[in-house]
Amino acid sequence: MSDEKIIVMNMGTIDSRVHSERSTLCLGIESSCDETSAAIVDSDRNILSHIIYSQIPEHQKYGGVVPELAARAHILAIDQVIEQTLQAAGKNMDDIDVVAATAGPGLIGGVLVGWMAATGIAQSTNKPLVAVNHLEGHALVPRLSATIADGSNGTASVDFPYLLMLASGGHCQILLVHGVGRYEMIGQTLDDSAGEAFDKVAKMLGLGYPGGPIVDKRAKDGDRTVFKFPRPLCDKPGYDFSFSGIKTAARTFLDKNTEPLTDKYINDFCASFQAAVVDCITNRLGNALNDERVKAAMPKTLVVAGGVAKNSEIRAAMEKLAHKNGMIFAAPPMNLCTDNGAMIAWAGLENFRIGNVVKEPIAPRPRWPLTEL
Ligand code: KG4
Ligand code: ZN
Repeated sequence: MSDEKIIVMNMGTIDSRVHSERSTLCLGIESSCDETSAAIVDSDRNILSHIIYSQIPEHQKYGGVVPELAARAHILAIDQVIEQTLQAAGKNMDDIDVVAATAGPGLIGGVLVGWMAATGIAQSTNKPLVAVNHLEGHALVPRLSATIADGSNGTASVDFPYLLMLASGGHCQILLVHGVGRYEMIGQTLDDSAGEAFDKVAKMLGLGYPGGPIVDKRAKDGDRTVFKFPRPLCDKPGYDFSFSGIKTAARTFLDKNTEPLTDKYINDFCASFQAAVVDCITNRLGNALNDERVKAAMPKTLVVAGGVAKNSEIRAAMEKLAHKNGMIFAAPPMNLCTDNGAMIAWAGLENFRIGNVVKEPIAPRPRWPLTEL
């Protein structure tokens, strides 16, 4: 594992709180896709240490994550990542109260590596173990730390219930979050996830992997009115998404183009594509806010989470929508949007608090909808 791929997250970023002696300490492990990550988080919402080992350079030449390579890279990295996480926090396993790891959904080879490591540590040290649903990690991390749109920057925690736009590389769902383990599906994608659409369009343009951040950056210098991308389902009531039509339109535009791909062409293309995705998200969320189930729950906060939550235009549009509806807008800080160990440690703590620990051996699940918790 080479040093340049290790990101040691800033310790004490959430430093306004005091780590009290009686707070619970959780070691969280994430390995469901292309990040091997571990973190120690306490129940006072402090991140004591956080290590993310990104495999992105290993997958870049293939234009996407290769599951077998990912599993092998997790095996090679996991012990060191956990050891460094303990070291960076100045803790050993005696100090840890609970161990948590992603038990699905995700690429099963990788999930198994993190889950087996966590099981081994928990059993050998006689600590409780929490099987965390990766999506629940994304869904709950705004309660560990969120940037609130009023500028209170990273110190606020989001209260239940909230309306969540969960958009990642693998998922795209609107959820009403009632509490830990209590998720009501309002809408979801019928085909691709938002992240997949970003990644595939970037690949068509030869922009590299992962595509989301590159498209986001290119779009800033582009004209969003140049390419007329469709807004699938937006003329219909409902809360579901469909991104495959936008992807097909991208292919068609590119097939028709006979000129070299200039920077201007690419920037305009990215801006127009991103505008279509943003419109779909705000359209569906706008409908969801008027849904009877949502209205009855009276969520005060509109939240975005998952890797795609890093997108600048999606954040801005959702903030506007929240304010228009008299709601607070919240998003995790950038380093807690894409896959990370801190969100797993936090979801571990939230589940531990309600007694949701592993009582007998479980098998990790490649598919594990949030509604089946
Ligand atoms: O949550 P995540 O790390 O992994 C999954 O659980 O799937 O999300 C990764 C996804 C990728 O598709 C990546 O392109 C996307 O998040 N992403 C973005 C941005 N940053 C990351 N998409 C749009 N705009 C961004 N700035
Ligand atoms: Zn994820």
